[in-house]
Amino acid sequence: MKEDRYSPGLEGIIAAETRISFLDTEHEEIVIRGYNLLELIRKVSYEAVVGLLLDEKLPDGSRQRELSQAMVQAPVPAPVYDILRKLPASMHAMDRLRTAVSALAGFDPEANSTSPESERLRAPRMIGQIAQIVANLTHIAEGREPQGFFPEYSFSENFLRAIVRRDVSAPEVRAFEQSLIAYVEHELPNSTFAARVVASTLSDAYGALTSAVASLKGPLHGGANEAVMYMLLEAKDVSGLDQLIRRKLSQKERIMGFGHRVYMRRMDPRAQLLKEVLHELISARGEGQVYADMCQRGEDIMRTEKGLYPNLDYYAAPVYYLLGIPIELYTPIFFAARSAGLLAHIIEQHRENRLYRPRVLYTGPRGLSI
Ligand code: CMC
Repeated sequence: MKEDRYSPGLEGIIAAETRISFLDTEHEEIVIRGYNLLELIRKVSYEAVVGLLLDEKLPDGSRQRELSQAMVQAPVPAPVYDILRKLPASMHAMDRLRTAVSALAGFDPEANSTSPESERLRAPRMIGQIAQIVANLTHIAEGREPQGFFPEYSFSENFLRAIVRRDVSAPEVRAFEQSLIAYVEHELPNSTFAARVVASTLSDAYGALTSAVASLKGPLHGGANEAVMYMLLEAKDVSGLDQLIRRKLSQKERIMGFGHRVYMRRMDPRAQLLKEVLHELISARGEGQVYADMCQRGEDIMRTEKGLYPNLDYYAAPVYYLLGIPIELYTPIFFAARSAGLLAHIIEQHRENRLYRPRVLYTGPRGLSI
């Protein structure tokens, strides 16, 4: 094998042919089935984007109602909640979620079907179940009963209400929904790749999703959003963040929420949009300006000192904080939102499957004898 084919971290390697999404950095556009993600965030509902991902076209009114119903009226089997109750509350929320996603397979009679059509039909229910599990993770860990979704609310309103368990305002629901769409699909990050790799053995969608939860947990990937919030809280105010970031940089530490394999030296377009969502939320609620000010200072320092820009996780964190969402749920929410994109990739992989099986550049010894 020629050495020049090796790319550490698979940087720049094209590892899948897809009709789902593409990060067009040249034109600064995230393409989702032909549409600009930012336009989808501004103009349509999360359910509509789920329809777009699964059906390859934006749904009409009746298909959207059908999807919404399937996602909202998807009961989580009681034994899945029983399993969650038995797990130590000290276990990371993503680990509890990973266990629950895996357990869901036991209650789906078609779990082992890798037929793309069966997977497409089951996907809305799976997305709804995952969101309900995520919404209930902290409640269960703190000894409260899980709460389901209600048909009178949209998917996003249900999801937010089930997390915070209070009435939510229209601007709050819209901010949350925009974050869900921002997270819904993003080409081939580590978790999507993990899911496609697992699916390529003709293993089932639950297994592929379970591997994606494990991947997304890492702080270099989805785990960055909770890490950002812990950093903002540790810093307390603008000058605290200024000092904290400069100290971390001098100790050669990474600052969570900055940098991206694909957008490394430019702003993640989703971060810019979530920054706007944060500002809108602050003016709707009349509080939280300190988080916008801190984020701006962090952004300025990182641009000047490192030439690095924020990614989506940087601005999603304060948005979730202002919505009153427990920090341990930030990454699980990312996964719940992304489950639609992941399922689209799993379906596509099963439709046009070829087993993933790359090679290595061997640098170990040879010719040893016993
Ligand atoms: N803070 C400080 N330095 C950084 C950062 C950062 N956040 N990100 C990259 N760098 C530096 C890194 O130290 C390296 O410098 P040098 O060449 O001097 O050693 C250079 O930039 C290139 O970094 P890399 O790790 O080789 O780049 P990568 O493409 O492998 O990493 C990344 C991409 C996202 C893992 C990285 O930028 C990072 O660790 N960011 C912080 C974690 C984060 O916010 N993750 C969320 C990613 S976006 C949403 C998602 O997918 O979940």
